[in-house]
Amino acid sequence: MTITITSRPRRNRVSDSIRSLVRENSLQVTDLIMPLFIIEGNNIRQPVESMPGISRLSLDLIVKECQTLHQLGVPAVVLFPALDDAQKDTRASESVNANGLYQRTIAAIKTAVPEMTIMTDVAMDPYSSDGHDGYVTENGVIDNDITLQILAEMSVSQARAGADVIAPSDMMDGRVGYIREALDAAGFTHVGILAYSAKFASAFYGPFRDALESAPKYGDKKTYQMDPANVKEAIRETLLDIDEGADMVMVKPGLPYLDVIRAVSEVSEVPVAVYNVSGEYAMIKAAGMKGWIDYQKVVLETLLGFKRAGANMILTYHAKEAAEWLNE
Ligand code: PBG
Repeated sequence: MTITITSRPRRNRVSDSIRSLVRENSLQVTDLIMPLFIIEGNNIRQPVESMPGISRLSLDLIVKECQTLHQLGVPAVVLFPALDDAQKDTRASESVNANGLYQRTIAAIKTAVPEMTIMTDVAMDPYSSDGHDGYVTENGVIDNDITLQILAEMSVSQARAGADVIAPSDMMDGRVGYIREALDAAGFTHVGILAYSAKFASAFYGPFRDALESAPKYGDKKTYQMDPANVKEAIRETLLDIDEGADMVMVKPGLPYLDVIRAVSEVSEVPVAVYNVSGEYAMIKAAGMKGWIDYQKVVLETLLGFKRAGANMILTYHAKEAAEWLNE
């Protein structure tokens, strides 16, 4: 019997070299941004139980880690502070302490590895006794506009310490424009804003909240973080942030939201980042440790998937190991 097939896509897959020619997307070390958790002290490495391979590091070790990441070709880090309960209050006052752990760490990295882009987190939760990203009033409501003032001061304080890109992760309305104005007024027109534009109220943040002990003391984050059911709203949030002056926008989490990355990247005039969050890291890490999946291949396939979906850069706890593999 003769078989007539007019189209044979397998011809483009017959060899490594052909496959490399027709490849539509690629993953590079320069796509990666490594999140780091900072704690007070010296020579301290405190493993995060729900994120095997990831530790809270003291300032001296963070600086070393940044040197290593820089040598590997990773262009940026994003920093999160793990504070003692005693340092937390309702107004997140510690966030504007010029001699605070966060500010000292930014300055130390800037001095030791000036080429590294330092991205900073702007939100109240690491410093808040309520564990919320915004200011909580006496009746338990998150007050948007009081929060903006706190976030703006936090941003200026971080810029003064040497931050290159301010990344508000709080999801208050109008914060990008408000922070932009505050940065400009303080002389930081060169400091960029990476807006967490489409940030969903997700269960995938659990291990991160373990790392910072920053889980909300009551309630949830659904009045400010987005409903996982919505994609049009993600576009609306993104366009608002771009309008207010965002230099880059973000979708978060990553894996369950690849369609959102695609939708946002199609409308965005600015680069799109994705945050491959703590719970996604934990799942793949755990299955890898069990020997149930090929960890390295699954990680690289996952990160490539973000690129294919339309992301220009990826915040991921796999950044260091992925950089090592990509450099091999
Ligand atoms: C809070 C913040 C969160 C993450 C980054 N910034 C958690 C939250 O919104 O509760 C999560 C990141 C991760 O899970 O890796 N401002």
